[in-house]
Amino acid sequence: MRPQEGAAPVLALWCCAGLLLSSVFLCAGVERECVPGTVGQPVVLPCLFKEGLPVVNFSIEWRKDDKVVLRSMWDQYGNVESWRSNGTTIPADATRTKNFSLKLSAVDPREDRMNYSLFLTSGENQSSLLCTVCLRVAASFSVPLLERKDTAESQTTFLCHSTGGYPQPAVYWLINETQMPPEGSVRTQTALTPDSHLYNVTSNLTIPFSKDVNVSCIIENPSMNETLEKKHMPAAGPVTGRASEAMWIFSTALCVVVGLMVFAGVIYQIHLDKISKRRKEEHEDSLRGNKRRWQVFEEEESMMSDPKETEV
Ligand SMILES: *[C@@H]1O[C@H](CO)[C@@H](O)[C@H](O)[C@H]1NC(C)=O
Ligand SMILES: *[C@@H]1O[C@H](CO)[C@@H](O)[C@H](O)[C@H]1NC(C)=O
Ligand SMILES: *[C@@H]1O[C@H](CO)[C@@H](O)[C@H](O)[C@H]1NC(C)=O
Ligand SMILES: *[C@@H]1O[C@H](CO)[C@@H](O)[C@H](O)[C@H]1NC(C)=O
Ligand SMILES: *[C@@H]1O[C@H](CO)[C@@H](O)[C@H](O)[C@H]1NC(C)=O
Ligand SMILES: *[C@@H]1O[C@H](CO)[C@@H](O)[C@H](O)[C@H]1NC(C)=O
Ligand SMILES: *[C@@H]1O[C@H](CO)[C@@H](O)[C@H](O)[C@H]1NC(C)=O
Ligand SMILES: *[C@@H]1O[C@H](CO)[C@@H](O)[C@H](O)[C@H]1NC(C)=O
Ligand SMILES: *[C@@H]1O[C@H](CO)[C@@H](O)[C@H](O)[C@H]1NC(C)=O
Ligand SMILES: *[C@@H]1O[C@H](CO)[C@@H](O)[C@H](O)[C@H]1NC(C)=O
Repeated sequence: MRPQEGAAPVLALWCCAGLLLSSVFLCAGVERECVPGTVGQPVVLPCLFKEGLPVVNFSIEWRKDDKVVLRSMWDQYGNVESWRSNGTTIPADATRTKNFSLKLSAVDPREDRMNYSLFLTSGENQSSLLCTVCLRVAASFSVPLLERKDTAESQTTFLCHSTGGYPQPAVYWLINETQMPPEGSVRTQTALTPDSHLYNVTSNLTIPFSKDVNVSCIIENPSMNETLEKKHMPAAGPVTGRASEAMWIFSTALCVVVGLMVFAGVIYQIHLDKISKRRKEEHEDSLRGNKRRWQVFEEEESMMSDPKETEV
């Protein structure tokens, strides 16, 4: 009985310590994590005031780094003064709900990793920091374009291109589904578009010429939780160069030959029909009157005009 009695408090102590530790880490983790925002879309930077608000004469300020983006002041009668920069709002009922979250109407890539802070000022007291929120900006890349180019030096270059994403992505290549490309065969460049502040990425893979090789270009943007893959397969992909030229000539020749054969077949059929009809006509002629014969003749003549031309 005794050991067990002693074990319970020890266990409880360890549990407490564990909980305390994990909660400390949890808090630290939450604090460090930034609020994700998608370029061009609204985002809410959360700040909930837990304690009681000063009853009269207080003001709040949201600052982006050190620049004030929103200021609001209350006296005993309510909101008396407010100023805000474009595209920023706080809930109208903030004093009642104690929800002072800042809403940005559109996320801009230039605000990536910026710290937004909410300060409270009341009376003569200095302003106190209520919240600091960091904004993490992301934007989707376009589905990559993948092109194959067979160069003269018996090499094949694959070009992968994607636009309009943020932040800089990771680009991977896979050969024949599983192989990593040999060292030095890949060249990747990212370019920042000045007005949108978004990235374009271009990557080259150059490998020895191979007719049937499968190549995949993979663009990874973890901030957006996105992985874009474009695959080039020898059969389906747009193949350019000499091989396809020969293919084109061959298929054209095949088309012409088949066309000629079909044409000859049709002519021969018409010829047979003509003969059988003439025999039928002769037979009917002996049975029916003149009117009927005239009709049949007209039909026959219209049919004969084609074969006459081609028989020459
Ligand atoms: C609040 O401010 C107003 C004017 O700004 C002043 O007349 C009033 O005395 C202030 N109240 C308190 C409690 O400080
Ligand atoms: C704020 O936005 C309005 C309309 O969207 C625009 O006309 C105005 O120039 C903007 N002001 C600033 C300072 O950006
Ligand atoms: C606080 O306000 C923001 C913006 O209106 C809203 O998105 C959010 O859900 C609110 N948070 C709580 C806990 O009510
Ligand atoms: C935001 O705050 C973090 C930690 O407080 C700091 O490391 C980071 O440099 C700040 N970001 C900017 C843009 O000042
Ligand atoms: C100013 O701060 C002091 C101490 O921090 C506090 O006792 C006092 O109530 C504050 N005054 C106002 C008006 O908030
Ligand atoms: C290339 O891809 C096609 C279609 O997925 C597959 O049938 C073929 O086996 C692949 N070839 C190689 C060499 O992996
Ligand atoms: C990829 O190759 C093309 C020509 O094959 C070249 O014009 C381009 O600059 C190369 N790009 C990179 C990122 O190496
Ligand atoms: C990135 O791609 C977009 C769309 O194709 C284009 O408008 C822009 O000029 C490109 N930016 C750079 C730096 O090449
Ligand atoms: C990819 O697979 C094809 C077909 O199996 C093969 O001909 C080619 O050599 C392979 N390429 C590489 C780089 O392994
Ligand atoms: C990423 O997307 C997957 C599937 O859509 C989802 O299960 C996962 O929770 C997402 N992760 C993040 C960090 O958003």
